Amino acid sequence: MTDAPTTSLPASHPLVSGRTSGSPLVRALRGDRPETLPVWFMRQAGRSLPEYRELRVGTAMLDACLDPAMASEITLQPVRRHGVDAGIFFSDIVVPIKLAGVDVEIVPGRGPVLGSPIRSAADVEALEQLDPTALAPISEAVARTVEQLGDTPLIGFAGAPFTLAAYLVEGGPSKDHIRARTLMHSDPDTWSRLLAWAADVSGAFLRAQVLAGASAAQLFDSWVGSLSRADYVQSVAPHSAAALAHVADLGVPRIHFGVGSGEVLRDMTTLGTGTVGVDAVGVDWRLPLDEAVRRVGTGVTVQGNIDPAMLSAPWEVLEAHVRDVVRRGGAARAHVVNLGHGVPPETDPAVLTRIVALVHELGDGTDGAAA
Ligand code: CP3
Repeated sequence: MTDAPTTSLPASHPLVSGRTSGSPLVRALRGDRPETLPVWFMRQAGRSLPEYRELRVGTAMLDACLDPAMASEITLQPVRRHGVDAGIFFSDIVVPIKLAGVDVEIVPGRGPVLGSPIRSAADVEALEQLDPTALAPISEAVARTVEQLGDTPLIGFAGAPFTLAAYLVEGGPSKDHIRARTLMHSDPDTWSRLLAWAADVSGAFLRAQVLAGASAAQLFDSWVGSLSRADYVQSVAPHSAAALAHVADLGVPRIHFGVGSGEVLRDMTTLGTGTVGVDAVGVDWRLPLDEAVRRVGTGVTVQGNIDPAMLSAPWEVLEAHVRDVVRRGGAARAHVVNLGHGVPPETDPAVLTRIVALVHELGDGTDGAAA
């Protein structure tokens, strides 16, 4: 195992007090192979759970995120039910943008929608800084959750600047993020100011979660797959690095995830520099993990990459796929089992519980048990 990094976290933080530092998740993120592989699911909290749907009746998504008791309870639901190795904080990538004063709502079945898109130099100029005191409900929700989680680590997260910009410039969900990518080339200066603003807002959101007790930090660049490698390296990666730099002094393990990221996986690992810049890289379902390791090397842990489409396939098909994912993950220095993207809302939650039990039976993932 690598030495625990230096940190300016408080002594009571679970990574420092020892509550989570020996957990399978934290050990794997730091490059070790614990006796059992850690497993959690992106979007494990949410619509696949009946207890979530019941609790959310009558409360808008972003109001739920800003209610510390509700956000904490929703975060804990999948941990209790599935026995996953981590909680992921229930919130949304647009929460810090809203707290910075942007008019944004989450429309059910669609996603984040803005009152007016941010497209011109003047629009970007008018964006306000995030007042740190606005993050109080986030810190409170995390602290409550961590208290309940005991030895199970909580993962904090934030949206990467490009994925946020894809919503800000388009004004809502879009297919290929054409307007955002046009702005990148037609007005690079405005683009760079917009991404710098998004990196600050996301970075502050991530830092608040880690200071309040999160034991790992994941940056979601969900729409990175629409970028060419050259555009990613030149116009995006430095801003993702800036967002993650907000937690660098805390010594918390950092995970970088994107969808359709095959072309840029190595650059997501290095954050556009010459050396490994994160502890783990999340891989989507398109790229087998052994091929991902060939691209990123063995200096980083891999996370993934069960195909979400397989969750509704017959168990025999899904089981063979999970075993294959674990076997291929054996090529990495360490492996955190997850999906290649989020849990689809129609997923039968019993299937997720069954995957957790299966993964926990497969030992450290390198003994051929997966064959
Ligand atoms: O369990 C978890 O993973 C933690 C919670 C979480 C949510 N959003 C809750 C949520 C996380 C980590 C996110 C991040 C997020 N939000 C991303 C990056 C991850 C990814 O999935 O790619 C993105 C792109 C968003 C933006 C967003 N918010 C979308 C596309 C949607 C779905 C819209 C829909 O209705 O299909 C949301 C809403 C959202 N965020 C829901 C949840 C549980 C659904 C809200 C509901 O219950 O109505």
